Amino acid sequence: MGEFFKVAKTSEIPQGEKKLVEVDFVPVAIFNVSGEYYAIEDVCTHDGGPLAEGKLEGEEIMCPRHGARFNVKTGQALCMPAFESVECYEVKIENDELYVCVD
Ligand code: FES
Repeated sequence: MGEFFKVAKTSEIPQGEKKLVEVDFVPVAIFNVSGEYYAIEDVCTHDGGPLAEGKLEGEEIMCPRHGARFNVKTGQALCMPAFESVECYEVKIENDELYVCVD
């Protein structure tokens, strides 16, 4: 089983918000969708755009570079110009702290 790293307090990411963190040298975007937390690699599969700087709508994040959309729960690419999914990571909460595993 992979190692979990503490990344933020739950209160730092209100519903509908996001936060960029670094986990074991990997840039990770954390999202709060209706009180549930999700983590994906902060690198658009189209051309490396910073997804955490994009607009979060429901469970979809739009890349700020060329508008590709990804589902933050599954990492699935939803529209052009991205075809490949982004990496998703496991999130757990302990004592109001968020932990992410990037293995
Ligand atoms: S880099 Fe994300 S859509 Fe192009």
